[in-house]
Amino acid sequence: MTDRYAVIGNPIEQSKSPLIHTAFAQVTGQDIEYTKLLAPLGGFAAVVDTFRASGGRGMNVTAPFKLDAFAYATHLAPSAQMAGAVNAMKFEGDKVYAENFDGVGLVRDLVHNLNCPVQGRRVLILGAGGATRGALLPLLVEQPAELVIVNRTVAKAQELVELARIHQSGSVPVRGIGYTDLSDQSFDLVLNATSASLAAQLPPLWASVFAPGCLAYDLTYGKGLTPFLQLAKQADVTRLADGVGMLAEQAAEAFAWWRGVRPDTRNVIEQLTVPLI
Ligand code: ATR
Repeated sequence: MTDRYAVIGNPIEQSKSPLIHTAFAQVTGQDIEYTKLLAPLGGFAAVVDTFRASGGRGMNVTAPFKLDAFAYATHLAPSAQMAGAVNAMKFEGDKVYAENFDGVGLVRDLVHNLNCPVQGRRVLILGAGGATRGALLPLLVEQPAELVIVNRTVAKAQELVELARIHQSGSVPVRGIGYTDLSDQSFDLVLNATSASLAAQLPPLWASVFAPGCLAYDLTYGKGLTPFLQLAKQADVTRLADGVGMLAEQAAEAFAWWRGVRPDTRNVIEQLTVPLI
């Protein structure tokens, strides 16, 4: 029998998840159907209830419902607890297992696809919202030399430093600062986890943050050369990436969690890549 999965959001038309999971199912020989579900604002639980009642096995969750899914879940994985948000659910009877694979997807993309180990590197992450929160522990597990969180609202960066201090078992130095404190510092890996690229804005960043050989990575997907990546390019950074690989890798994590088989992501990444020009 065909097992049913879906992605839920509002809006949902733009979602690439059905394309990705259908491709994964084809290459792994899994018999699944994967659709898009539009839920009205405030109507998340009712739509998920109906999907489960009709035999749905799992769901991806996208904006604006990641917090609703957090509240709906009965079993939150540490990744979801740390991120404070859920992007994948698995339904078993009355149990709702919940995960957040965004951070692990980012790290897999960096390490496996882009050949950019995090270990021993100086890492700067821009922004202190949900995206940074989800990326924090998976990045720290890789043991960078240091992790600096920079945010316009410094107090939010410092809250995440405290969260990292409580949760990380290692001893990676983590600092939370404002953009003006960045003037004389440079990094091997600069990650833009702000929502600025979605509005075609540039965080108030100095070109000197990019160390020689640095990778500039924008977690946004499909926007081409964002203002952040443009700044990096103008600063002669040659290693530029957007979040297409992260998108594919978080999906592969969810697929493996649901189906017990991990798909290769190369074809999907190739298919979804928007040139950085
Ligand atoms: P998400 O869940 O996508 O991370 P969020 O939780 O609303 O979204 O967080 C957005 C982040 O992007 C915040 O860190 C925000 O900075 P502030 O906390 O100071 O508001 C950051 N951000 C948004 N637009 C920005 C811009 N133009 N320049 C710099 N940072 C920006």
